[in-house]
Amino acid sequence: MDTPHDEHGDPPIYPVGLRLAGRKVLVVGGGNVAQRRVPTLIAAGADVHLVSPEVTPAIEGLVGSGEVRWLERGFEDEDLEGAWYVMAATDDHEVNERVSELAEERRVFCVRADDAYAATAFTPAVGRHAGDTIAVMGSSAGERDPRRHASLRDEIVTAMREGALATRHHRDHGPGVVLVGGGPGDPELISVAGRKALMEADIVVADRLAPRELLAELPADTEIVDVAKLPRGRSAQQDRINEVIVEAAKAGKRVARFKGGDNFVFGRGYEEVIACQEAGVPVTVIPGISSPLAVPAVAGIPVTHRGITHDLTIVSGHLPPGHPESLVQWGALASLRGTIVLMMAVENAPLIAEVLLRGGRDARTPVAVICDGTMPTERTVLSTLGDLADDLVTHDVHPPAIIVVGEVVAIARPDDYPAPEQHRA
Ligand SMILES: C[S@@+](CC[C@H](N)C(=O)[O-])C[C@H]1O[C@@H](n2cnc3c(N)ncnc32)[C@H](O)[C@@H]1O
Repeated sequence: MDTPHDEHGDPPIYPVGLRLAGRKVLVVGGGNVAQRRVPTLIAAGADVHLVSPEVTPAIEGLVGSGEVRWLERGFEDEDLEGAWYVMAATDDHEVNERVSELAEERRVFCVRADDAYAATAFTPAVGRHAGDTIAVMGSSAGERDPRRHASLRDEIVTAMREGALATRHHRDHGPGVVLVGGGPGDPELISVAGRKALMEADIVVADRLAPRELLAELPADTEIVDVAKLPRGRSAQQDRINEVIVEAAKAGKRVARFKGGDNFVFGRGYEEVIACQEAGVPVTVIPGISSPLAVPAVAGIPVTHRGITHDLTIVSGHLPPGHPESLVQWGALASLRGTIVLMMAVENAPLIAEVLLRGGRDARTPVAVICDGTMPTERTVLSTLGDLADDLVTHDVHPPAIIVVGEVVAIARPDDYPAPEQHRA
């Protein structure tokens, strides 16, 4: 019978999975190629014997932890004895050639680092996600394009991670609620797990500050509940949200509760956890990148800096100082030296600045007000505690905004603030 060949005259490749657990695998060479491949062999449970006069520090670590047997010398023919699989991974073409020939004689499959397609086996571009392994390779030795295969592998794995490749039939999640933190606004700043949970949901219950662009990417049959359309009033709306997510989960749906930032940072997320628990509905949490850290970061302002601040306080300015329901000790806050990040504070900022000044903070303390952080309309207004009230009016500042109070602002914008003496020390 004729062997089939492709247009390059090469026979097709037969893809296969190897069960290497407890089996001897010989690796010849101890450089970067071996370093990349050996961990996967270890993960497969292989009994890895590595021959090389020298090894990289990372491989030495694997030797030290007993995961690899190292023969500290050059290759000898007997090294092949008992091996099920061989990797010729030296930078010496002749040695690789010799290992490959000997392996062929002994009918042991061998891969080669210097010419992946010259030996009896070769390693595909491999990616893994949630129990699935993706291997991409040419259909024959002639179809050699490792870069393209690696990038195809990356695209497939990314699509799997983001949920774009998880069809409804493959969804492995049962009914329940997952709280998904959407990040500060830029749709790129949601986590991989968060994006996947959204794509896999039957219903997405979304807040005003959740990154809206992501909703456009949802499968056509995903139901979207816009929280802004539910009854107004702090308690009425939250009660209704609790009802919506619990009822949907009890009806057998997978519900994603999608909010801006992180659901537990001034997001009432734990009220929803309690509602689910009380109703006996399974609930999980996927954290989000929270705005008090992310918004200053994207605007180029660090919330801590060595030698400048050893404390960082994130405060809700939703209730003004002196309000009977306020839980913030504004006086104590004023006595701290570090960074204060104010959220939901645009309206009450003048009063807050006043109590901080009264409590001892310097009127020259730098302040940055970052509006619409991470979004196309982002802008930063620079001020000081003393001028904050006026500057908010002058610059027509509206929520959402993050207000950073402290010397870290001057570190990031030295041209706008005279450096205090302690910075020069
Ligand atoms: C109800 S809180 C929700 C916070 C959210 N859970 C988080 O972790 O970021 C809303 C406040 O977060 C801040 N905020 C959220 N996203 C923002 C953004 N993109 N730019 C500026 N401030 C933002 C504002 O202070 C806003 O008033």
